[in-house]
Amino acid sequence: MTRRWTPGSWREQPAKHIPSDYPEPAELARAEAELRRMPPLVFAGEARRLKSLLAEVSAGRAFLLQGGDCAESFKEFSADNIRDTFRLILQMAVVLTFAGGKPVVKVGRMAGQFAKPRSAPVETVDGVTLPSYRGDNINGMEFTAEARTPDPDRLIKSYAQSSATLNLLRAFAGGGYADLHNIHRWTLGFVDGSPQGARYRELSDKISEALTFMQAIGVTPQSHPDLSRVEFFTSHEALLLGYEEALTRVDSTSGDWYDVSAHLIWIGERTRQLDGAHVEFCRGVKNPIGLKVGPSLEPDDLLALIDALNPGDEPGRLTLYGRFGADKIAARLPRLMRATRDAGRRLVWAIDPMHGNTQVAANGYKTRPFDRILAEVKSFIEIAQAEGVHPGGVHLEMTGQNVTECLGGARALVEGELAQRYDTHCDPRLNGEQALELAFLVAEKLKAEREASPLRAAQ
Ligand code: TRP
Ligand code: MN
Repeated sequence: MTRRWTPGSWREQPAKHIPSDYPEPAELARAEAELRRMPPLVFAGEARRLKSLLAEVSAGRAFLLQGGDCAESFKEFSADNIRDTFRLILQMAVVLTFAGGKPVVKVGRMAGQFAKPRSAPVETVDGVTLPSYRGDNINGMEFTAEARTPDPDRLIKSYAQSSATLNLLRAFAGGGYADLHNIHRWTLGFVDGSPQGARYRELSDKISEALTFMQAIGVTPQSHPDLSRVEFFTSHEALLLGYEEALTRVDSTSGDWYDVSAHLIWIGERTRQLDGAHVEFCRGVKNPIGLKVGPSLEPDDLLALIDALNPGDEPGRLTLYGRFGADKIAARLPRLMRATRDAGRRLVWAIDPMHGNTQVAANGYKTRPFDRILAEVKSFIEIAQAEGVHPGGVHLEMTGQNVTECLGGARALVEGELAQRYDTHCDPRLNGEQALELAFLVAEKLKAEREASPLRAAQ
């Protein structure tokens, strides 16, 4: 691609899923100008740090854990909610680190995950047709003409919410909450009495014992501060490019452009056209970039996207998230993996087992069967191992709240129970217990990999 890149060059390319129906474009321009004056949410050096950790994942020496809400919302915004998702990520990270024997890179789908691509631009209810809900940073979910009209002030509000969320996450990550000595305290109330809770307790007993031993031999939080803190990164889909552009700045240390709205941004399955606006925007910022890879993508098109987004084959720059569905992954993934492997491209292969496994229950609720989610993760790991590719990570839609949105799991949630606590603003999320169960499954697989090739794992 020889086109000259600027933070606004995406505007010359066809842009899907970006609203064009703001009633007053001048108001939108004013909001974007206001964002341009706001401080960055993340520092370029942090994005580079995440890139170096993802380079470790691409080399098979670490594992990526990325998760959070499908869509954040103004209504569900609360300190408890942020804490609950954060601690669920900590619990899952403990399980995965212990089993895999490798560092786990922790990335929240948080602090900026608002905008949603929708399958239809309009929605009809009882004969009334209105624009679809596009995420709280664009319009409101309520089914009224007023709420569904895009409102530029929502950009400012979502920036503010992202900033407050990130502030709390930084405090949790570095201020003592994430101290491994607190491992027993992270269990969510509703998970405590469950089979996953019991498994987790058993594991945390072992780790506590190891910590006591280490303390006795002089390995303490004072001598090793990493025992009491984690590095935690944020990510969201770079969908609403006007917002991303307004938060794109030149980093004074490197002279490069960074999108400072999050550490990692990704391109969704519906906006990954090679000549489209989203690929154009992302190719020019130096952040780590993600790309969703679904069942319709052919190997040659994938390689062309990789060339556009990571022409220098910089490890850690690009993460691919397969999202095929449990029934399609075996037919689609192997040839894509072979293509990147044979081309020698250094990137992370991860799995998003959520989006290919969505269905509508008999009572009209959009849901996802947990056994299919697990099945896709299992197939992913097995296919990667068979192809000699590192199964690098998982990308999940999940929440620390006790929701009833995905069917199945250890408590065998059934269709009739979906209505009890169905709170999502978009897609159904794993609840804490289901997410932990998934972490244990991945852990078992990683452990088997480690035991099968001890030399490789110890590198
Ligand atoms: N800092 C280390 C890490 O992130 C160890 C650690 C501290 C940790 N607190 C944690 C690991 C919580 C997992 C979960 O790996
Ligand atoms: Mn989703």
